[in-house]
Amino acid sequence: MRRLLGAVAISGLIAMGGTVALAAMSPEEAVKARQDLMDTLRDASRTLRPMMNGEAPYDADAVRREAAVIRDHAGSAITDLFPEGSLVGDSEALPAIWENFAAFTKAAEDLKAAAGALVEAADNTGDTASAAPSMGSLMGGAPEAPAGDVALADQPATEVYKAVGGACRACHTDFRQD
Ligand code: HEC
Repeated sequence: MRRLLGAVAISGLIAMGGTVALAAMSPEEAVKARQDLMDTLRDASRTLRPMMNGEAPYDADAVRREAAVIRDHAGSAITDLFPEGSLVGDSEALPAIWENFAAFTKAAEDLKAAAGALVEAADNTGDTASAAPSMGSLMGGAPEAPAGDVALADQPATEVYKAVGGACRACHTDFRQD
């Protein structure tokens, strides 16, 4: 949002046929920029997935690094690249984005939160019981608290990674063409 406001301050608003458009980025440039950003997210996911599946050796530093890439390319880094009127060219975006920008923003923030949690959870490689502090027993409850009661960042990295993938899928389901 700060970047958007900066762009407004620099370029001013140009009134076009009754609508108002930001002059900073053409619709075509916005589509290219967000597809490039999504490719960056895909590349980071492709590095993470084999480590999470046990198909590649687990490297906590690499997990932290790739999760940080995703976190830093989520939230407003995504929503800033979907200005009004940028459903052009080969964009696979759905009009639903601009019909409910609050929900779209929430989906982008959900990804940022999940990826941020994965940065913190990168060292949580033990089984669920050791990775998650036994809050249940501390609080006199059941020793096996359901995962939902444990902060995402305290869960095993493999579980947090599922939340990251889920955040990608959730947004694509609602806001991207098949
Ligand atoms: C907030 C919504 C949202 C989130 C979260 C999101 N995406 Fe996307 N993604 C989109 C939309 C919308 C498009 C279509 C963009 C366009 O073509 O204009 C897209 C397109 C893509 C593409 C195709 C890019 C291209 O070159 O055409 C890939 C790959 C992709 N996303 C991967 C991911 C991955 C991996 C994640 C999670 C780490 C993710 N996305 C999270 C909304 C999202």
